[in-house]
Formats: sequence, C-alpha cells, structure tokens
Amino acid sequence: MKASTLSFFAAVIAVLVGMSWGIVMALSHDHSAMPAHAHLNLLGWVSLFLFGIYYRLHPPLDVSRIAMMQVWIWIVGTIVLTVGVAMIHAGNKAGEPFAGIGSFVVLGDMLLFGWLVVRYERRAAA
Ligand code: HEM
Ligand code: HEM
Repeated sequence: MKASTLSFFAAVIAVLVGMSWGIVMALSHDHSAMPAHAHLNLLGWVSLFLFGIYYRLHPPLDVSRIAMMQVWIWIVGTIVLTVGVAMIHAGNKAGEPFAGIGSFVVLGDMLLFGWLVVRYERRAAA
C-alpha cells in the first residue's frame, strides 16, 4: 500500500468517528469532550488528508518505507492523544500521560515529515 492510500483511509475513518462524536455531543448538550473531538478531527482528518495529498503529489516519496512509517506513527499518536484528552475532560487524571505522550509523538512525527519535505524539495530543485 502507498503512504497516501493509508493516509486517506485513516483520515476518512477519523472523520467518521469525529463527526459521530460531534453529533453525540450536540444531541446530549454535553460539550465536555470538545477538545478531544476537535483534535481527533484536526490531527486525524485534516492533517492526515494533507499528508496524503503531499505524498500523492510526490510518487517516489509515496512508495518509500519512511513515509509509510510517518503515517503509521501519526495514526497511533493521534489515537493516544485523543484518548488521553477525552479521559482528562471526563475527569480522569489517568489520561494525562496519554495526552502528553501522544503530543510528543505527533510533534516528533511532524519533525520527521518536515525533514522529508525539506529533503524532497531540495532534491527536486537540484
Ligand atoms: C457531523 C459533524 C460535526 C458535528 C456535529 C460537530 C459538533 C461539534 C460540537 C457540538 C462542538 C462543541 C462546540 C462548543 O462547545 O463550543 C464542536 C467543536 C469543534 N469541532 Fe466539531 N463537529 C463536527 C465536525 C467537525 C469537523 C469535521 C471538524 C474539523 C475538521 C471539527 C472541529 C471542531 C473544532 C475545532 C471544535 C472546537 C471549536 C471551538 O474551539 O470552539 N468538527 N463540534
Ligand atoms: C501536538 C499537538 C497538539 C497539542 C498538544 C495541542 C494542544 C491543545 C490544547 C492544550 C488546547 C486547549 C484545549 C482546551 O482549552 O481545553 C488546544 C486547542 C486547540 N487546538 Fe490544539 N494541539 C495540538 C495540535 C493542533 C493542531 C495540529 C491543530 C489544527 C490543525 C489544533 C487546533 C486547535 C484548536 C482549533 C483549538 C481550540 C479548540 C479546543 O479548545 O479544542 N491543535 N490544543
């Protein structure tokens, strides 16, 4: 599978869960999970779809193992962060390490993506 294909699949799953969660929040008039819903949609749907577009635009990168790894790390980090933030806002302090670890996983993974972009763009310009 290409990195972009995995990104698009995971993004659609994230937004289906995220939208359903939004509807549950709206119907229940309980918006306490709002930050978890927001970050599932923003890290899961928006960011993953953007990674997918970048990889699809650059076929050599799209078939590389490092791009595939970057997408998988992002998926795992997003799930860990979302679960942690949801637990915190449900009043469970045990969510804090999950939110913290998830944050650094996605931050580190964004640095990896940034490095891939810089490397690719420099090669393309040369
Ligand atoms: C069926 C679709 C959706 C429903 C029903 C829904 C519902 C909600 C609800 C009820 C809130 C809480 C609002 C508040 O307490 O102020 C919220 C917040 C939020 N949602 Fe959604 N949402 C949906 C889709 C999305 C999508 C696709 C995204 C991102 C691409 C998104 C991003 C956000 C953000 C960023 C916030 C926080 C806004 C703020 O800071 O006030 N939502 N959503
Ligand atoms: C390492 C990744 C990230 C961390 C640790 C993080 C952390 C946070 C925190 C602590 C808040 C305040 C939540 C509250 O008041 O309860 C927040 C709000 C927000 N963040 Fe992030 N964020 C991250 C990535 C992003 C990204 C990539 C986007 C957009 C693409 C984004 C968009 C927002 C928005 C729209 C809000 C206001 C809505 C809300 O309160 O949930 N964040 N973020």
